Amino acid sequence: MRSIKRIAITTGGGDAPGLNAVIRSIVLSAHNRGWECVGIRDGYNGLLKPQDFPQGGLMPLDLSVVRGITHLGGTILGTTNKGNPLRFPVQNERGEWVEVDVCQDVADAIHAQEIDALIAIGGDGSMEIAHALCRKGVQVVGVPKTIDNDLVGTVITFGFDTAVSFATECLDRLHATAEAHRRIMVVEVMGRYAGWIALNAGVSATADAILIPEIPYDIGKVAAKVEERAARGGAFSIIMVAEGAKPIGGSATILEKTVGHAERLGGVGHKVGAELAQLTGKDTRVVVLGHLLRGGTPTSFDRLLSLRFGAAAARALESGQDGVMVALDPPVVRYVPLDQATRRTKTVPLDCDTILTARDLGISFGD
Ligand code: F6P
Repeated sequence: MRSIKRIAITTGGGDAPGLNAVIRSIVLSAHNRGWECVGIRDGYNGLLKPQDFPQGGLMPLDLSVVRGITHLGGTILGTTNKGNPLRFPVQNERGEWVEVDVCQDVADAIHAQEIDALIAIGGDGSMEIAHALCRKGVQVVGVPKTIDNDLVGTVITFGFDTAVSFATECLDRLHATAEAHRRIMVVEVMGRYAGWIALNAGVSATADAILIPEIPYDIGKVAAKVEERAARGGAFSIIMVAEGAKPIGGSATILEKTVGHAERLGGVGHKVGAELAQLTGKDTRVVVLGHLLRGGTPTSFDRLLSLRFGAAAARALESGQDGVMVALDPPVVRYVPLDQATRRTKTVPLDCDTILTARDLGISFGD
């Protein structure tokens, strides 16, 4: 087993509440083992493009830097979803932007900086990069993060509970104004190709219909649900829409796809709103919660999970583990091989009890 003197932490992809809590947990756990800790700025850009950082691409992480950050959203290291080393954007000789694999450069920079091990905090993309670095001889442990909760291998990712709690609160508020104006209120939430946020918040806040990517919808059925409610005296309706939702036979709404940047989803809420207004003749408003779901203070559940994940990652390094991701398998935190964690997207199983509960409560999925 190699002895560890210096470790690095990176946070990649979209930020999620709880990132700073993980960083603090790792730094304290490292300090207690006598390890030095540095943070790589903006994903791996701090190593790949150090000239872009006036204060240096690596941030020394001593105890004073992580004091009082457990409850803060964002990440003190910065993050990016533009700097994936597996698909790094560079300009070729014709001036066109192309994607190239620069993982060897990252591994070389890690070794040149005398970093003995890496803790990579991120979503599926970050775990894929961690796995590639592990194959290039870097000792890596992954920590799963995403508000989307779409990572296989772990029952839950930190950030998800905060996003669901906030979306639930927003729906509660929207109920009041929807009822006052007798409107249809369409609420679009993030989640990429998984409907976890829409489903959990939609059921918790008693939405009337929930549209998720896993169940393609028929807008006529959603309109029928609104009419049926109106016939029973319910003058308003709340429709929760996951950004990856798609109509039967159609595809998800893509906002943007550029070289070196993850595909951006969004806009389906406005489509659904316009169609419902036309089909029902009802006054309709659309609210897109977007990045509000990613900001703010992590819930106590997310803070505790983040602190547990960070400490578990340090224990994994100490025991010589490599190429694994920490994972919640209630009630324990365990380790799963990185390749297992990146095999597929964890979508909502159609027979899961939350879907069955929603159906029993009369919530429509537009199917
Ligand atoms: O993966 C987290 C996430 O918030 C998704 O739910 C969303 O589609 C995406 O990131 C948005 O990313 P960006 O920060 O590029 O807008």
